[in-house]
Amino acid sequence: MCGIVGYAGRVGLVETGTAGRAASVVLEGLRRLEYRGYDSAGLAVMAGKEVHVRKRAGKLTNLTALVEADPLPDAVVGIGHTRWATHGAPTDANAHPHLADNDRLAVIHNGIIENYRSLRDRLVERGHVFRSETDTEVAAVLLADNYRRLGGDQAGTGVLETAVRRTCADLEGSFTLLAVHAEHPGLIVAARRDSPLVVGLGDGENFLGSDVSGFIDFTRRAVELGQDQVVSLTAEGVTITDFGGLSAEGREFTVDWEAAAATKDGHPSFMTKEIHEQPEAVRRTLQGRLDVDGSVTLGGLGISDEVLKGIQKIVIVACGTASYAGQIAKYAIERWCRIPVEVDLAHEFRYRNPLVDVRTLVVAVSQSGETMDTLMAVRYAREQGATVLAICNTVGATIPRESDGVLYTHAGPEVAVASTKAFLTQVTAGLLLALHLARLRGTGDPIEISTAAAELLEMPEKIQCMLATSKERIAALAAAMADSTAVLFIGRHVGHPVAMEGALKLKELAYIHAEGFAAGELKHGAIALIHEGLAVFVVVPSPAGSPILHAKMMSTIQEIKARGGRVIAIAEEGDDVTAGWSETMLTIPSSIPLLSPLLSTVQLQLFAASFAAAKGLDVDRPRNLAKSVTVE
Ligand code: M6R
Repeated sequence: MCGIVGYAGRVGLVETGTAGRAASVVLEGLRRLEYRGYDSAGLAVMAGKEVHVRKRAGKLTNLTALVEADPLPDAVVGIGHTRWATHGAPTDANAHPHLADNDRLAVIHNGIIENYRSLRDRLVERGHVFRSETDTEVAAVLLADNYRRLGGDQAGTGVLETAVRRTCADLEGSFTLLAVHAEHPGLIVAARRDSPLVVGLGDGENFLGSDVSGFIDFTRRAVELGQDQVVSLTAEGVTITDFGGLSAEGREFTVDWEAAAATKDGHPSFMTKEIHEQPEAVRRTLQGRLDVDGSVTLGGLGISDEVLKGIQKIVIVACGTASYAGQIAKYAIERWCRIPVEVDLAHEFRYRNPLVDVRTLVVAVSQSGETMDTLMAVRYAREQGATVLAICNTVGATIPRESDGVLYTHAGPEVAVASTKAFLTQVTAGLLLALHLARLRGTGDPIEISTAAAELLEMPEKIQCMLATSKERIAALAAAMADSTAVLFIGRHVGHPVAMEGALKLKELAYIHAEGFAAGELKHGAIALIHEGLAVFVVVPSPAGSPILHAKMMSTIQEIKARGGRVIAIAEEGDDVTAGWSETMLTIPSSIPLLSPLLSTVQLQLFAASFAAAKGLDVDRPRNLAKSVTVE
């Protein structure tokens, strides 16, 4: 939530001649980070001994138009912010940066300052005036107050860092703060607690970003920071200290994501592009990890075989789409490994006093690796003595860093807010984990396991073929349905989480009532929703792989039709029974049931993207959302 960029360079860099390029670097970083929030955007650059700010409510294009109309001076230092609103409506006044100390100090912030009310009251009593409704302005004013109490620039070069540390000591909640002050023109001071921040190392220039995409156009050298750290960034160098002022170190790594990965590559949206990247993404998740006989090599997992053999229970914690991937993993692990698995929404987990101990493996599934709810569940699980394994896409993110082990999905950057390739690769990683545990513990039917492994290896190709044949058909269906105001999704077994994922995609992208149910549950109440013409997507189990469930689903289809519902089936090629009963049938290649979500979900993703596009909505940036939810 909220994207943050910082840049410290100098004049005379090769690309820029003599002028500083702070504004353009910061705007480029914001463009890459806009997926994190788009309620407003703003930036501040330092030129001479002045801070120059531009900010605007709405998407980044509003800010770029403002900067074009009212250009910023050449500058060597700048900070920028793209907002997902928490405190205060998305207005110009509430946009970051927030100014204090007679407009000489600018601050941007990601996170939530939980005690901002009491701090604000205290600062108002001291005579400070506020111009916004945000918790961020409280941090800015408090920082200015601390800075002045310390003596301002009279107190020497380290005063801004000291003031930031003192301010952090007073803040409760999660935050990444970036501050610049006109009295320290070449310097950015940043601090982080429970909120992401990465450093980028350039040649004569350095960067800060909520994640590496904030500076990926300029450098691949990055430094991962620890918890409760302060960073002082200039063109010449980066100094990392802890909140107590002691010297600290970050871990340097090379960013392997292709900068090109953050362009649409001819697709109408990032989401559509990412849907089409799924064959390759799944291939990368599997690469070097799976043999056709079912043996799995999870190099770098970080959790010993001994520990995994002793596990008595697994709890999967995740949110949203990632939790549906976790539900599919549950079916595979329980079937092949005979270990009980619970799936918890991460934000519910620690509040229900769960039964977790040293024999529990907690699997935290997160694309971003920064979802605060999931991070808090990870911390809680480790406090209880559980072993925590992260399934994550973002190398070096907080969740894998704080876990005992990690299984990276290697899906590549996912820019669209709606998760697509992250989901498929999380499902793939969950299946790999299940196969690995089955091998280690000697469970599961060996023939079924080697069949599953062989089929899993074929999945990228099957997804590819399906994408090539379904796209236009689904676009036509979506266009014909664009006036629908409600759609239901039902499924059984692993089709149930697929149905919920299909509904979530439609809710978040098209803002219509969409509900996913277990098909067997329909008759226990939800069937009352069915009326003449209501579209119901039915994720049909394989007739060969799950004949009993297939037959039951045929009965459900009859019940829907009898009440006037329109059945749109997602079913296997050659499933003539379903074809006969449904108004529209979207086909998927045949597979063993546990693998079928890797196919059926893709059809629902395509439908949601086409449906939102047919309604003229912004597919990549749905309203009210942000890609990475770093508040609880
Ligand atoms: O980064 P994470 O995987 O932890 O994010 C979890 C959810 O916020 C996320 O899956 C969300 O539900 C999707 N963007 C929906 O498409």
